[in-house]
Amino acid sequence: MGIKRIRLKNFRNYIDEEINFSDNITLIYGENAQGKTNIIEALYLFSTGKSHRTGNTNELIRYGETFFDILLEFEDNNYLQSMEIKYEKGDRKKLFINDVKKEKMSDLLGVVPSVLFSPESLSCIKGSPGERRKVIDIVLCQISKKYLFNLQKYSKIVKNKNVLLKKKQYNSQIDVWNESLAKTGADIIRERRRLVSSLEKRMKRIMLGISEGTEDVSLRYRTSIGEDGEEYRSLMDILAKNKEKEIEHGICLYGPHRDEIEILLNSKNSRYYCSQGQQRSLALALNIAVMEEIEEKTRKTPVLLLDDVMSELDENRRNYLYDLIKDKQAVITSTDKTQFRISDDKVSYVKIRNGTVVRI
Ligand SMILES: Nc1ncnc2c1ncn2[C@@H]1O[C@H](COP(=O)(O)OP(=O)(O)OP(=O)(O)O)[C@@H](O)[C@H]1O
Ligand SMILES: [Mg+2]
Repeated sequence: MGIKRIRLKNFRNYIDEEINFSDNITLIYGENAQGKTNIIEALYLFSTGKSHRTGNTNELIRYGETFFDILLEFEDNNYLQSMEIKYEKGDRKKLFINDVKKEKMSDLLGVVPSVLFSPESLSCIKGSPGERRKVIDIVLCQISKKYLFNLQKYSKIVKNKNVLLKKKQYNSQIDVWNESLAKTGADIIRERRRLVSSLEKRMKRIMLGISEGTEDVSLRYRTSIGEDGEEYRSLMDILAKNKEKEIEHGICLYGPHRDEIEILLNSKNSRYYCSQGQQRSLALALNIAVMEEIEEKTRKTPVLLLDDVMSELDENRRNYLYDLIKDKQAVITSTDKTQFRISDDKVSYVKIRNGTVVRI
């Protein structure tokens, strides 16, 4: 799997432009506000159906225009294929795969997977437990339809139970919800534990490499629920013991929606103790670990999208990461062309100025 070319019509500051991608690293460079992130945004749109910057699709249309039309050519199973997204103001986004119109935008999920790392990704290290749960859940949803199903089901159960708890009095219906909450919750916790332990091994290796052996990372899945294999019984016990407390508070207090994934660096919680550069390295290591995990489970290599993050790393860290990703496909943006050893033939360069490719 690999992306070959993108065409952007009336998308953000692009009128009609094409960008070709290398099979390895494409470095998109140019001054601020020229349209580098806009290309990353379009690629992300093709892999998730959503922008990472806005929920309002109208913002993606070039000012003064009424529609956008973007096309991605990619290779899969030795065939050149295409995906097109068309959007007209006030209408819904339309998706075409190999010129065939698809019913739902979600039909694009899994076709061209990507992993995005941008300055905002630091929130997975510094942010609230919810941010880390989201990262873990997105990975699991991409590799398991059953997990997606369970997660949707679980969130409905919590919502329904909360409606009852809000009344702040006992209702036998609460016991019924507890039973299904424990069942679905136990499945979710088991899957998350499995993923966290696999990501830990990968991140350990990557961080030790980045830091030349000085930074040891470990991940901890923190939950009030008991050991592996005991999740269902343990969750049932906790819910039974704390029934009064939950009614008093009027809200669900126990279950995987309250869990935390702690990232420890040299045994200290990275959320509070890391330098900026360490947090950045950790976030990058997490993203690469996620990429490896998706690759192993789905047998498709996601495209790595790195928006404006390499320049924040010191030269050693940058070189290590370069070696790690140079055989994968990555699209990297920067204001600085000299990020990497220029002589390397694995990097192709694209200069952007004011929404056009500068052909040199
Ligand atoms: N809908 C739109 N129509 C036209 N231009 C737009 C639209 N949305 C954003 N822009 C323009 O696109 C430019 C920003 O592009 P982008 O975010 O890709 O910049 P960048 O090259 O990544 O810059 P930086 O180096 O600062 O991150 C801005 O000049 C902005 O005004
Ligand atoms: Mg940018």
